[in-house]
Amino acid sequence: MTNVLVTGANRGLGLGFVKNYLGKNVNVVSTTRDLKSSKELLALKERFPNNLEIFELDLLKEGAGYTMANFLGDRPIDILINNAGVGSTNQHLQAVSPKPWLEVLKVNLIAPLMVTQSIIDNVKKGSDKKIYFLSSQLGSIADNTSGGMYIYRSSKTGLNQVVKSLSVDLKPQGITVVSLHPGWVKTDMGGPNAPVSIDESIEGMIKVIYATDIRDTGRFLNYNGKELPW
Ligand SMILES: NC(=O)c1ccc[n+]([C@@H]2O[C@H](COP(=O)([O-])OP(=O)(O)OC[C@H]3O[C@@H](n4cnc5c(N)ncnc54)[C@H](OP(=O)(O)O)[C@@H]3O)[C@@H](O)[C@H]2O)c1
Repeated sequence: MTNVLVTGANRGLGLGFVKNYLGKNVNVVSTTRDLKSSKELLALKERFPNNLEIFELDLLKEGAGYTMANFLGDRPIDILINNAGVGSTNQHLQAVSPKPWLEVLKVNLIAPLMVTQSIIDNVKKGSDKKIYFLSSQLGSIADNTSGGMYIYRSSKTGLNQVVKSLSVDLKPQGITVVSLHPGWVKTDMGGPNAPVSIDESIEGMIKVIYATDIRDTGRFLNYNGKELPW
């Protein structure tokens, strides 16, 4: 049975991945910052006691990756989905400042690689050997015609570069590494005016995850499978 790990799984797209994969009879390891308040995940755990695990993980905590690795032990992870991320307010030229910028970089750019570094042996033991990072079209330099959003854009542009390096480093070991844009999605982050529903985005991304393999490593893909410009 396939083992999938999803970070930031208590709401939004992370929760969407968990629900969809559980419906497909996949084993899911989900992470949340606060177990007690993760009501939907806890309800899913009651319905799928043998297929769902919930692990408390705050990406801002020192050594988060290593606590994750200790929890997993030597279990294989077939598909790792680095989903957790944050947006930011006050990102225009006159408002942007280092402190909130660094917090976003820690969560969106640095932590996903640290988690991946810590549990890479689990992915190597998996049969699929696939790693996906939730990036954003807003991280595309080629697509940036509207400016602004310094904090969020730079975090995802940096993440794309991380994905590229990781794909090169892990290719000899047969590990697929892909950057995914989920679309502009109706979540707390995307807001109510977003045109894409969580289900539509998740269906699309899961198709992409299923269809991609080592020949696609290092690509930047939209939720509908289309290539995005870096
Ligand atoms: N929605 C969109 O339109 C859109 C577009 C492009 C890219 N994305 C990307 O897609 C991913 C998921 O976005 P979303 O729309 O589902 O966002 P969301 O609804 O705001 O959910 C974000 C998730 O990340 C978790 N998270 C935030 N900070 C964390 C930390 N320090 N440690 C651990 N978990 C943390 C949150 O946990 P808490 O509940 O504890 O805060 C939550 O589970 C993000 O990487 C985002 O940048 C989203």
